[in-house]
Amino acid sequence: MSSKLIAPSILAADFGNLQRDIEMVNNSEANWFHIDIMDGVFVPNISFGMPVLKVISKHAKKTIDVHLMIVDPDRYIKTFADLGSNILTVHYEACTHLHRTLQAIKTEGMKAGVALNPHTNINVLEDIIKDIDLVLVMSVNPGFGGQSFIENTYNKVKQLKDLISRKGASTLIEIDGGVTNKNAKALIDAGADVLVAGSYVFRSENQTKTIKDLKAIANS
Ligand code: DX5
Ligand code: ZN
Repeated sequence: MSSKLIAPSILAADFGNLQRDIEMVNNSEANWFHIDIMDGVFVPNISFGMPVLKVISKHAKKTIDVHLMIVDPDRYIKTFADLGSNILTVHYEACTHLHRTLQAIKTEGMKAGVALNPHTNINVLEDIIKDIDLVLVMSVNPGFGGQSFIENTYNKVKQLKDLISRKGASTLIEIDGGVTNKNAKALIDAGADVLVAGSYVFRSENQTKTIKDLKAIANS
């Protein structure tokens, strides 16, 4: 079994000490940087944009996993590629021509991800799963860090895992929102490959150790 990955969410970092927090992730056992871009339209919050991502890219030494919570993401695919994104995830709910969007992301040399809101059923991905490198299952409503985990996520992850194997796809499953040491193992057992963790990591006393422990749980 391939090893399970941890992606700290920079949304919960200390923006006054961003370089320090990026170096902490660089020097930890984390695998990816998870970057949340919010436009205040698709979600009721605005996070940060291109200048901040540019700084993150400059210092980050690991995979940059960008989660776009924006309407009409097609407008910015090339911009995010140029800013150093390795994985670009768009929301299913924000894309009218999802197949075209995924092809455009791949054409720019990035891995293509699709995020599902908590209310969106897995079966909408039946006809597109083989074209998706990563499905991000939202385990909270997108827009804010620090919310509590929605329990129905376990069922969704199991259904998604089943869809992926039924179709012979090699899509990774990423979980985003309210991930802690309490639900990490059950999420992995349900079929998750990547766990995003924001406040659980950055609000902890010893962030490096929190990442190490979460990774150990995920791979136990
Ligand atoms: C929420 C974002 C998440 C968020 C997770 O809209 O997509 O990535 O940063 O934060 P926690 O881990 O605090 O729920
Ligand atoms: Zn996210």
